[in-house]
Amino acid sequence: MREDLIGAEILDWYDAHARQLPWRVPPGSAERADPYRVWMSEIMLQQTTVAAVKAYFERFTTRWPTVGDLAAADDAAVMGEWAGLGYYARARNLLKCARVVVADHGGTFPRTEAELLTLPGIGPYTAAAIASIAFDEPAPVMDGNIERVMARLFAVEAPLPGSKPVLKDHATRLTPQSRPGDHAQALMDLGATICTPKSPACGICPVIEHCAARAAGIAAELPRKSPKKAKPVRFGYAYIARKPDGAILLETRPDRGLLGGMLAIPTSDWSDAPAEDPPVDTQWHDPDLEVRHTFTHFHLRMALRVASVAQDATPTRGAFVPLAQFSPKTLPTVFRKAFDLSRGVSVDGARRNG
Ligand code: ADE
Repeated sequence: MREDLIGAEILDWYDAHARQLPWRVPPGSAERADPYRVWMSEIMLQQTTVAAVKAYFERFTTRWPTVGDLAAADDAAVMGEWAGLGYYARARNLLKCARVVVADHGGTFPRTEAELLTLPGIGPYTAAAIASIAFDEPAPVMDGNIERVMARLFAVEAPLPGSKPVLKDHATRLTPQSRPGDHAQALMDLGATICTPKSPACGICPVIEHCAARAAGIAAELPRKSPKKAKPVRFGYAYIARKPDGAILLETRPDRGLLGGMLAIPTSDWSDAPAEDPPVDTQWHDPDLEVRHTFTHFHLRMALRVASVAQDATPTRGAFVPLAQFSPKTLPTVFRKAFDLSRGVSVDGARRNG
C-alpha cells in the first residue's frame, strides 16, 4: 500500500532529523516518554509556538516534576507561573486535570484515547497526542501542521474547516501500527520545518515524490481556508491606582470567563459602550493612552486611567498589593501592557518625557 511506503519514509526522515525538545525522548528510543510531560507540553503547545513554550515547560516541570506535585500546588502559584502564555482556561484545566488524575486514577495517566478524553481540558487533539506519543496507540493526531501536510500530500482542495473529516481520513490511513507516536511527531516537525504555511521547502521534503499538491504545482496554496468573520472591537477602561509607598491595586478575576482566576488590573466591562467603573473612589486622571490587545474572538481597546491614592484608601474591589510582593510577570499580557504603559505616566496623569 502506498500509505505504508510514505509512512516508512516519514519515520526514516524523523530518525535522522527529529527536533530535540525537552518533552521528547529520541526517536525509536527504548525509553518511554513520560505521559505527564507529554500532557503538559501538548496543553502548552495549543495555540502557542514551540519557542514560546520551552521556557514555561522547563519552569513547570522543575517546580512540579510529577502530576502529584502539580495536583498539590497552590492555584495562585500555577496561575502566576502560566502568566504570559495566554489562553488561561488551559491553566485552570491543567490543575483540575492533575487533581482528577490523582483522585480518580491513583496518580497515573490513563492509557487510552477514550479514557484520556474524559479528563478536564483534554479534547480530541490532546487525547490522541498523549495516547500515541506516550502509549503507542495508533490514534491519528490532528493539529494545524498535520492538516496542512495532509492537504498537500493528498491535494485536498476543499477549504478548512469543512475539509477536516477528509484530512483526518487521510491521516488515519497514513498512521502506522508501529511507532505511531514518532509518526505523529514526525508530521509535526515536517509541518513546522519543511511543509511550512508559506514557501514550503519542497526541495528537501522526504516525501516530495508522493506529494499530489507539489505535482499539481499548488502546494503553497493549500490548505485553502473559508473566509473568516472579522473580529469585533470591544472597549473598556483600565484603572491603575498606586499608594505613596508604591502599593498597586489588583484583583483576582472571577473563576469563570476570560482570564478567569488570573491576577488582574481592575477594569470596567468590555463592550461596545463600557461604563466607567473605577475600583476606588478617588480623583482619576486620563493620560490619553490606550491598551490594545487581541483575544481569540475580539480586539480590545482600553483607555488608561491612573490615580495616586492616600495611604489609607480602601478600594470597592480588589486589594492593594505592596510593591515588594508584586511581580508584573504574574499578570496576563493584557494587564502587563496596561501596567507597562502606566509606568511612563506621572501621578497627575501627565505623560513623562520619553
Ligand atoms: N506541537 C504540538 N505538539 C508538538 C510536539 N509534541 N512536538 C512538536 N511540536 C508540537
